[in-house]
Amino acid sequence: MGAPLKVAVLISGRGSNLQALIDAFGPKVQDSPVTIVLVLSNRPEAPGLERAAQAGLKTEIVDHKTFASREDFDVAMDREIRATGAEFVVLAGFMRLLTPQFVAAWQDRMINIHPALLPAFPGLDTHKRALEAGVRLHGATVHFVRHETDTGPIIAQAAVPVLPGDDESTLAARVLAAEHQLYPLALRLVAEGRVRVEQDRVVISDAPAMEGALFNPALPR
Ligand code: GRF
Repeated sequence: MGAPLKVAVLISGRGSNLQALIDAFGPKVQDSPVTIVLVLSNRPEAPGLERAAQAGLKTEIVDHKTFASREDFDVAMDREIRATGAEFVVLAGFMRLLTPQFVAAWQDRMINIHPALLPAFPGLDTHKRALEAGVRLHGATVHFVRHETDTGPIIAQAAVPVLPGDDESTLAARVLAAEHQLYPLALRLVAEGRVRVEQDRVVISDAPAMEGALFNPALPR
């Protein structure tokens, strides 16, 4: 195995996906293919910063409110990220739109997790919209970041059922539990050098595909 991939994780809030990444790749993990070299938040009060500090990770705050423009903010973030030697950026509940310059600078070296089966339900309030649409399967997507929000080559997806009686919070919790498995899976594939982008689609080498199909309602036994 080569040297671990040096990753900066960008957050804005709770940081439960960050926690899943810490559990999978944090300082306590032996032979991790990933080293988290930085956890950066644009919000000083983000609870995820505490999770990072608890794990002994380097944290930085780049508060977007203190910058005159989006460009200035992104330049400052870029500087902090590069100062740590990070080679790869992981967005984990990072709630700022990024400039085209920043996205281009990290092209194919920046991933995001979105709480829906893209390209369905890009944007906000995905669980509410999935319930309104009446879909039977919902889920989460990890993808490389492109300029247009919630687009970009898809690396991995997890599907969960929408169940009778679900509300936004029960559905969100089911998707979030899947996210916590999906993000480490996708980042591991990337760190192991098994993910490449060809013609703006992802090709994965040597990854077992899921077998069969998901049905909701389930097929009769
Ligand atoms: C997750 O649902 C993620 O898919 C979305 O933002 C949320 C972040 O949650 N991009 P957390 O901060 O990781 O708990």
